[in-house]
Amino acid sequence: MKRKSILSVMLVLMMILTACSSGRVKLPAQAEVTDLALKDVFAAHGMKVGACVSSRVIDTQKYADLVQGQFNSLTMENAMKPDYILNQKESQTSGKLVVELNSEALSILNWAKANGFSMRGHTLIWHSQTPDWIFRENFSKSGAYVDREEMLVRMEALISGMFKELKDHGYLDLFYAYDVVNEAWMEDGSMRSSNWRKIIGDDYLWYAFYYADRYAPESIDLYYNDYNEQYKAESIADFVETLKDDDGRYLIDGIGLQAHLFTADDLATYLDGVDILAETGLKLELTEVDVGLGKYEGAQSATDAHLREQGQYFYELFEGLFKRADAGKLRMDAVTFWGFSDGLSWRREYSPQLYDSDLDPKYALYGAMQIKEYAGYESTETAK
Ligand code: GLA
Repeated sequence: MKRKSILSVMLVLMMILTACSSGRVKLPAQAEVTDLALKDVFAAHGMKVGACVSSRVIDTQKYADLVQGQFNSLTMENAMKPDYILNQKESQTSGKLVVELNSEALSILNWAKANGFSMRGHTLIWHSQTPDWIFRENFSKSGAYVDREEMLVRMEALISGMFKELKDHGYLDLFYAYDVVNEAWMEDGSMRSSNWRKIIGDDYLWYAFYYADRYAPESIDLYYNDYNEQYKAESIADFVETLKDDDGRYLIDGIGLQAHLFTADDLATYLDGVDILAETGLKLELTEVDVGLGKYEGAQSATDAHLREQGQYFYELFEGLFKRADAGKLRMDAVTFWGFSDGLSWRREYSPQLYDSDLDPKYALYGAMQIKEYAGYESTETAK
């Protein structure tokens, strides 16, 4: 071989190696691989599939098109959290906690309705992203903390106010599930400390579901939602048993598993947690799925090898869930991804989503769709 051709062969080899190690192996487009959308795959197992969205997503054509093509359920990433739905001035004027949907929430709801999406509500009672003034006298920043009785009144106003606000704007029918309480338990089995708990006491959790059960329409399933659920499964299973009324009727319908996972997380342990929670007989949903590369204290770079591992993880996670659901061992009617593109994800340094930043499909997408040939298993052809 001439020196020049040896050099060009080496150059091509180097380009392939760089592409592989930097994760730039381009997978075939979804339309070349399957006629199905993500929502068709989940529908075959009786599940909706959702994404979290912000106004940026629905206002950007390429994102909006993808969401419309692939998903049929939406959760607001932030716009319905307590920090965004409470009007301090109106509360001070009226002396009652006033719920008011902001323009971002209204525009997402409007878009969801126009495009036929179902909605998950997220979230009402949470230790985080909740204004401190709702716990204080006169709804003022500097007031003293109010007492238990007053805080129960405010909790009732928040919960009833949210459902009323959705009804008044004509969007209540879109909702099939609502996260009433988010993240109340710790991994060691103890209850998380929060202003709600400090002021009302440990039974704040019971009251949250009591009010939600009272004010939400029957058509909306009421959820308790948490993360690291595989390590909290026993405590959550014990906790939901306490959420009953005087006649022994559950005030709760489902348990939300956030599923903020990493490829280093043991999948068998995760699915054991799912089984423990499924035994409660309540519905389960994965509510915020993403699977980061590596582990929390150590993000891995998006090399082809790491992306393949992620694809396999998604494949086996959903294979496990679909099998359980199909066998009637799991009542799961929806799965929501916390985003869909690595570029938009809150954990983007871990590249945890189905599509990359350019919206090209990753092994992860084909893994979730149960298309094994493109899910990252080594023996299969991928790059074309
Ligand atoms: C938790 C919350 C979500 C969101 C994520 C980070 O999982 O439930 O609403 O705040 O953290 O985006």
